[in-house]
Amino acid sequence: MILAAALIFAVVAVNSATVATPQPPTRVVKRASTCTPVAGQGSSIDDTPAIQSAIASCPSGTIVIPKSTIYHINTAFSFTGCSGCTLQIDGTLQASSNTTYWGGRRSIFLMDGITGATVYSTTGTGVIDGNGQAAWDLFAANSSYKRPTLFYINNSRNVKVSNLHFKSAPNVFHSVTGGSSNVSYSNITLYAVSASANVAHNTDGWDIGQSTHVTIDGAVVTNDDDCVALKAGCSYATVTNISCTGSHGISVGSLGGGVGSKDTVEHCLVRGATMINSAKAAGLKLYPGPPEHGTAVVSNVTFENFVLQNTDYAFQVQSCYGENTSYCEANPSTAQIADVIVRNFSGTTSTHYSPNVANLDCPAAGTCGLTLSDITVTPPKGSAVFQCANTPSNLGVPCTDGASG
Ligand SMILES: *[C@@H]1O[C@H](CO)[C@@H](O)[C@H](O)[C@H]1NC(C)=O
Ligand SMILES: *[C@@H]1O[C@H](CO)[C@@H](O)[C@H](O)[C@H]1NC(C)=O
Ligand SMILES: *[C@@H]1O[C@H](CO)[C@@H](O)[C@H](O)[C@H]1NC(C)=O
Ligand SMILES: *[C@@H]1O[C@H](CO)[C@@H](O)[C@H](O)[C@H]1NC(C)=O
Ligand SMILES: *[C@@H]1O[C@H](CO)[C@@H](O)[C@H](O)[C@H]1NC(C)=O
Ligand SMILES: *[C@@H]1O[C@H](CO)[C@@H](O)[C@H](O)[C@H]1NC(C)=O
Ligand SMILES: *[C@@H]1O[C@H](CO)[C@@H](O)[C@H](O)[C@H]1NC(C)=O
Ligand SMILES: *[C@@H]1O[C@H](CO)[C@@H](O)[C@H](O)[C@H]1NC(C)=O
Ligand SMILES: *[C@@H]1O[C@H](CO)[C@@H](O)[C@H](O)[C@H]1NC(C)=O
Repeated sequence: MILAAALIFAVVAVNSATVATPQPPTRVVKRASTCTPVAGQGSSIDDTPAIQSAIASCPSGTIVIPKSTIYHINTAFSFTGCSGCTLQIDGTLQASSNTTYWGGRRSIFLMDGITGATVYSTTGTGVIDGNGQAAWDLFAANSSYKRPTLFYINNSRNVKVSNLHFKSAPNVFHSVTGGSSNVSYSNITLYAVSASANVAHNTDGWDIGQSTHVTIDGAVVTNDDDCVALKAGCSYATVTNISCTGSHGISVGSLGGGVGSKDTVEHCLVRGATMINSAKAAGLKLYPGPPEHGTAVVSNVTFENFVLQNTDYAFQVQSCYGENTSYCEANPSTAQIADVIVRNFSGTTSTHYSPNVANLDCPAAGTCGLTLSDITVTPPKGSAVFQCANTPSNLGVPCTDGASG
C-alpha cells in the first residue's frame, strides 16, 4: 500500500514540475495511476506535448485535466500510447485559433488504432473547445480552406466519451470510422453558433462511417449541419435521447457519391429525438446513378419517437443529392432502400414548405422499402401534405405527387 502510494506520488511529482513540457517519468507504474500534466503559462505555450507524455507514462491510468484550468491545444493531439487510459477532463482543452496551423489537418484530437479509452468529466465542468470562429470566418471568405474535425476516432474499439461539453468545432465535431467498434457517447453537449455573420458551416454533430456498435445516448446539439449523419459503412449505430437545434437533422448519407461506389448503411436505430428549428427531422440523402456517381444500400434503419418544433420537413428522401434535375432524369438513383421505418413523429413543422411536411423522392431506378406510421406532425396552417415520387403503395401515409430533390 505505502509503496504503491509512493509510486503514484512520484508520477504526479514528475509531471508537476514547473516546465512547459515535462519529461515522461522514468518509472513505469503498472497499476492504475493518476497523472496531472502541468498547464502551460498562457495561450502561447502548447500543452499538447505535456498531455501526450502523461498518456505515454500512464497508458492505462487516469490523466487529469483539473477543474478551472485551461490547457492550450496549439498542435494536433493524438491518443497514441493509450491502452485503457482515462482522460478525465474537468477543466478546458482549448484549441488555438491559428488557421494557418490547422488548415489542411485532418483533426484536432485523434484516436487512431486505440483499444480502450475513456474521456469524461467527473464534475460536469469538462470542455473541449475547438475555438472555430476564425476558421468559420476564413472558410466563408475562401471555401477552399480545409478545416479539421474536432474529435476523430479511427480504427479504434471500446471507447467511451461522456459528460462533456464540446464547443465551436471548426468543422465536424465527431467522426467515427476506419472499422471502429464499441464506441459510446453519453450525456454530451455540442454547441457551435457563430458570433459573426458567417454561420458555423459543416459543424456536423456526429459523422458515423465505417463502424459497428456506435451509440449516442443523451445529447444536446446546437449546430449548423447534420446533427447526426450515418455514413457509408455504418452498421449497428444506435442514437437515443437526442435534442437537435438549428441542424439539418438526423440523416443517412450522403451515400453513393463516388464513381463506382456502393455505400451501405444498415441495422441502425434512432429512438427519441427532439428536433427544433431544423431543416428536417430525419431523412436519406442519396446521389443519383452512374456515370458520375455510384449506388447505395440502406437496410433495416428505424427512426422513431421524434418530436418536432418549427422544423421544415418531418422526413425527406433525396435521390438527386448533389446534382441537377436533368442529370437525375437521365441517370436516376439505383439505390436499394429496404426496411426503413419511420414511426411516431409528432409536433409541428415550420412555415417553410407548409403545408408539405414530407418530401419523399425515392430512387426511380432502385427500390423503396419505406414505411411511415403514426405520423401526427402538423403544418402551421391546413392539413399535412406528404409529397411523393416512386414510393410504394404500402407507404403508410396518403401521397401527393411532386416530390423532388
Ligand atoms: C501559426 O501557425 C503557423 C504554422 O504552424 C506558425 O508558423 C505561426 O507561428 C503560428 N502563429 C502563432 C501566432 O502561433
Ligand atoms: C451530464 O453531464 C453534465 C455535464 O456535462 C453533468 O453535470 C451531469 O451530472 C451529467 N449527468 C449524468 C447523469 O451523468
Ligand atoms: C484559399 O485557401 C486555399 C487553401 O488554404 C489557399 O491555397 C488559397 O491561396 C486561398 N485563396 C485565397 C484567395 O486566399
Ligand atoms: C484510419 O485507419 C485506416 C485503417 O487502419 C488507415 O488506413 C487510415 O490512414 C486512418 N486514417 C486516419 C486519419 O488516421
Ligand atoms: C463490443 O461489445 C460487445 C457487447 O456490447 C461485445 O460482445 C464485443 O466483444 C465487444 N467488441 C470488442 C472488440 O470488444
Ligand atoms: C436525455 O439526455 C439529456 C442530456 O444528456 C439528459 O439530461 C436527460 O436526463 C436524458 N433523459 C433520459 C430519459 O435519459
Ligand atoms: C435491425 O437493426 C437493429 C438496430 O441495430 C438490430 O437490433 C436488429 O438486430 C437488426 N435486425 C436484423 C434482422 O438484423
Ligand atoms: C411516441 O414518441 C413520444 C416522444 O418521444 C413518446 O413519449 C411516446 O412514448 C411514443 N409513443 C410510443 C407508442 O412509442
Ligand atoms: C447538370 O449536371 C451535369 C453533370 O454534373 C452537367 O454536365 C450539366 O451541365 C448540368 N446541367 C445544368 C442545366 O446545369
